[in-house]
Amino acid sequence: MGKRFRAEKYRPAIFLDRDGTLIEDVGTLGCVEDIQLFSDTVEALLKLQKQFLLFVITNQSGISEGQLTLEQAGRVNQHLNDKLRRAGVVIEEWYVCPHRREDDCFCIKPKPGFVLKAQRDYGLDLNTSFVIGDHPHDALTANAQGVFGIYLLTGHGGKHLPELAMDRLVFHRISDAAEWIQNNPGRDADLQRQIEAGAQTIRDGGVVAFPTETVYGLGADVFQPNAVERVFKIKGRPHYNPLIAHVFETKQLTQLVTHVPDTARRLIEAFWPGPLTIVLPKRKEVPDIVTGGHDTVAVRMPAHPIARELIRLCGTPVAAPSANRFTCTSPTTVRHVREQLGDRCDMMIDGGACRVGVESTVISLTGPVPVVLRPGGVPIEDIERLLGTVETLSSPAEKKRGKVQSPGTMPNHYAPATPLVVFKEIPPDYENRSDVGVLLFQPCERRFAGVVEVLSSSGSPREAAANFFAALCRLDSLGLREIVAKYAPARGLGNAINNRLSKAEKGRISHDE
Ligand code: TXA
Ligand code: MG
Repeated sequence: MGKRFRAEKYRPAIFLDRDGTLIEDVGTLGCVEDIQLFSDTVEALLKLQKQFLLFVITNQSGISEGQLTLEQAGRVNQHLNDKLRRAGVVIEEWYVCPHRREDDCFCIKPKPGFVLKAQRDYGLDLNTSFVIGDHPHDALTANAQGVFGIYLLTGHGGKHLPELAMDRLVFHRISDAAEWIQNNPGRDADLQRQIEAGAQTIRDGGVVAFPTETVYGLGADVFQPNAVERVFKIKGRPHYNPLIAHVFETKQLTQLVTHVPDTARRLIEAFWPGPLTIVLPKRKEVPDIVTGGHDTVAVRMPAHPIARELIRLCGTPVAAPSANRFTCTSPTTVRHVREQLGDRCDMMIDGGACRVGVESTVISLTGPVPVVLRPGGVPIEDIERLLGTVETLSSPAEKKRGKVQSPGTMPNHYAPATPLVVFKEIPPDYENRSDVGVLLFQPCERRFAGVVEVLSSSGSPREAAANFFAALCRLDSLGLREIVAKYAPARGLGNAINNRLSKAEKGRISHDE
C-alpha cells in the first residue's frame, strides 16, 4: 500500500477505526464474506481524501486471544482495501493492534503509537488531523498528540456514549462526520468562530439554530420581542405555545423568575445543566411573546458545551424552541434543521448529533404539586427518586383538576410526512410489505420485507432515544407508503420515546401564521 505523499511534509491525515466505523461491527471478523461496508463509507472517504491522507487503525484483540490469526485479519484488511480502491478510495496504510485495549502494548493503546508512526513515515501534521471512531478510546487517545477525535454512534458508539466526555462531537454516521470536517478543517478554532458569530447574531436581534444535548434549538434573545417573533414565524408556531428560556448560569434566573422555590432548587442541583425544564412564576420584564402571555416562564440550563458557550457569549437568556417546523419531527442534526427550515434562520451552528435525542422533561412547579408536563431527557423515575411521586398530565389527579397547564402539549406533534402507526406488537401482515418502513426498539427475530431501523442494538432506552428522530427521518426520506413502529419498554427514556411515537401517529397539522 503505497506511500504516495512521502516527499510532501505536513499533510493532514484522517485515522479511521475499522469495525463499527467503516464496516458493521460483527465481532471477531475472520472471513471476507462477513465484511459489510456501511452504505455511506465510500462517499465519505472520497470526500475526505481530497484534503487528507487516510489511514486505518484497527484493534483486533481476537488475535492475542487466539480467536483470529494475524493472517486472517490481514486478508480481511486486504479485501476491504481492494474494495475501497475499486471505488476510488486510497488507504495509505492499515495498522493492526492485536492486543486487548486494557493491556499495555507496543501500539500504546494503539491510536497514539500508530499515529506517531504514521506521522514519522508520512510527514504528517497531527495538529490538522482527525481520528474517527466508534469507541471513546478512538476519540480521545490521540488527543495528546494533537489529533482531533470524532465519535460515531454507529457500531458500539451508542452503547459506549455515556463514557464519552461531553466536549466531544458525536455524529450518527461517517458521512455526517465527513461533512463537518470539510466545513471545519480548523477544528475547535472553526467551531469557536461559529459560536462567536452565533452569539453576535443573537445579540444583534437575529435567530440562530444551535445544538443542545436534547435536540437543536432555534434561539433568540429573550429580551428582544422582535427577534422572538421571528422564531415563531420561522417555525410556523402559534403564539399560544410558549418558549423555553435557556440560561448559562443559575444567576440568570433572577432576570426571569420571581423566586426559586425549594423544590426547584433541589431539581436544579440534581439535574442542571441537563435536559430538565422547570416552569416557574415569571418576572414582568419577561416579554409576553416568550411566555404566550402566561404568568409563568419555562427555564432550562442546557448541558451541551456549544449551547453553554453560545449563551455565555450572548450575555442574555436565549429563548429557543426545537428547530423544526411546527408539529414536524424534532431535529437532532444540523441536516435535519436545514431540511425543515432551509435558509430561514440567520445562522446554523453544526455541533454534530444531539446525545440525548429527545427534548427536555418539562416540570411545572407553579401549582400545589409538581406536574410533569412533558416526559423527556430526565426520566420521571429519576425525578420521583428525588421528590417522591409526581403527577403527570395523564395522571388521574391531574385529569380531575382538568386544567391544561402546558399549552404546547397538543396531541399532534413530532410527525414525519409519511403516515405512522404504532403497535405494542407489529401485526404479521406488515412482514411482507416492502413499501412499509419498520422502526424497532431493539433487534428481533422477525423478518420484514421493508426497510428496518433498529434504535438500540443493546436494548437500552437511552441509546434508542439518541437514535430515535434520526432513524424516523431516514425512514421518512424513503418515500414509503407507511411507517410502522413498535413501542419502547415503558421505563427510563422509553416513556419519552413512546410519548413522541403516539403523538407522531396523530400526524401533522398545518398552521398558517
Ligand atoms: O430540550 C428542549 O426542551 C428543547 C431544546 C432546544 O432546549 N426545546 C424545546 O422547546 O423542546 P419547545 O418549544 O419545542 O418545547 C417547549 C415545551 C412546550 O411543550 C411548551 O408548551 C412548554 O415547554 N412550555 C414552555 N413554556 C411554558 C410555560 N410557561 N408553561 C407551561 N409549559 C410551557
Ligand atoms: Mg470500532
